[in-house]
Amino acid sequence: MVKWWKQSAFYEIYMPSFKDGNGDGLGDFAGITSKLDYLKELGVDGLWLTPFYASPKVDNGYDIADYYCIDEVYGTMEDFEAFIAEAHRRDIKVIVDIVLNHTSSEHVWFKESRSSKDHPKRDWYIWRDEPNNWESFFSGTAWEFDEATGQYYYHAFAREQVDLNWANPEVKNAMYDVMRFWLEKGVDGFRLDVINFLTINESFIDNPYDHDKKEQIHLYDKDQEGILSVIEEIADVVHQYPGKFLVGEVGSEDINILKRYSGLNKLDVSFNFNIGSIAEFDAEKIYKKLVETEKAYDSGQIATLFFSSHDMSRHISRFGGDEDRAKMAAVLILTAKGVPFLYQGDELGMKDWVPDDIMKMMDVQGRLTYEQAVKNGKSKEAALVAANERCRDKSRTPMQWDSGPHAGFSEVVPWITVPEDAFHTNVENQEGNPDSMLSFYKRMLKLRKEHTSFQTGEYEFLRFQNGILSYMRSNEMERTFVALNFSEEEKSLELELKNMNLLLSNKRNKVENSEVLTIVGNEVIILKEDAGNDSLNQR
Ligand code: GLC
Repeated sequence: MVKWWKQSAFYEIYMPSFKDGNGDGLGDFAGITSKLDYLKELGVDGLWLTPFYASPKVDNGYDIADYYCIDEVYGTMEDFEAFIAEAHRRDIKVIVDIVLNHTSSEHVWFKESRSSKDHPKRDWYIWRDEPNNWESFFSGTAWEFDEATGQYYYHAFAREQVDLNWANPEVKNAMYDVMRFWLEKGVDGFRLDVINFLTINESFIDNPYDHDKKEQIHLYDKDQEGILSVIEEIADVVHQYPGKFLVGEVGSEDINILKRYSGLNKLDVSFNFNIGSIAEFDAEKIYKKLVETEKAYDSGQIATLFFSSHDMSRHISRFGGDEDRAKMAAVLILTAKGVPFLYQGDELGMKDWVPDDIMKMMDVQGRLTYEQAVKNGKSKEAALVAANERCRDKSRTPMQWDSGPHAGFSEVVPWITVPEDAFHTNVENQEGNPDSMLSFYKRMLKLRKEHTSFQTGEYEFLRFQNGILSYMRSNEMERTFVALNFSEEEKSLELELKNMNLLLSNKRNKVENSEVLTIVGNEVIILKEDAGNDSLNQR
């Protein structure tokens, strides 16, 4: 039987910004539950929720202070349980983000650990008399001096996100208990935050420096020895519960690193940043990344496909703000080989948004980048430019539900500015419009659901010719063909198969059965082989 997640399209919900149900300007479980019908109608099969556990929210919940509690701004445990039940009632799965690498400095474990050098929990975190040169992934040193005991503790991210010591079996067991707790609550799996960071080089060798890029090379603070056996242990804990799914955030764009983490007895999939982080809308590059992934993965390994998340600039903005391109990206995500992950608002063509005063909107990564740049003697203007580049809030603005105040996200002023274009770009405006981005996403999600070749089919070929990216996917049931003309010009393409029926195009309603297909600029065309075709019957 095909595993459910191989057939699913996932949708990331950024907790603070999806829907405010209790009028405090922040998203919450009541809000999400009220929008489950919307999500069902959109056609997604699984939700990924960003962290909702009790947290001081220095990094919007990726700094957990209590793994067993729902943060009060998001609701109660009853609200969570009601949400899970309602999602499941609609046949929607829920995977939750879990941060195993670090806890908040407010977590009781850390409070105990820092209280004295002899405390039994001292070794739950990483303490040293002297720091080495490792830098935080946000900016600045990764070591914080703690006056109380005169030692430094390690934090790969903000100083309020303290790295756990995964070499300590007690830490592992405590975290496995956390995972079991949420599995018992009925979650369908986990998104494992920065999972390749769990182990570090215990000799604490200094990281080298890249003089061209003028940045540290993170050689000894991630992807270290022992990480794969930890991953196997985690997978073992989770897979004791049949049907549960594990997707890992492996912070790397290197396919050779990414591929190590998924497969039998490991993560089910990891995020393919090699494809997802692509900066421009460059067909050839995308093609090369797809080929690279296809070549690198063993037969049992499956890629993930996404172009946006709460950590990166929205792809429609990266790709020049063009709706045609965003539609092509949607087609790729939903028809190429891999498990798709959409980010909330992609389906509306929501764009990055930065208000005039960027300081009003500065997530911890942006803020620390700013502080470090000033410390390094940069001018305020230059520091702001650097911060703006790394500030992730631009893709975290509230979901745009309607043209009313605060985009229908909340009845009060939201925690973060609502983009100006929310008045036009919103669910209400797009819902009845067959040409809207939302309608396009709905059609695409439906198409994916109705055609198993898009879920499990192999590539018969994957090509880039004359500016057109094309592929044929097939399984024992069917054969489908996708062509994307990334250029502005009309191109022609030789079709090897006859008797293909049009499933979808963004530019036409029918296709002539001929050997040469003319495909206009920015056109996407999806065809399916006629079931009566001889070649198919022979297979
Ligand atoms: C992951 C999260 C990001 C967070 C970081 C540290 O990359 O996606 O938002 O800041 O981990 O926990």
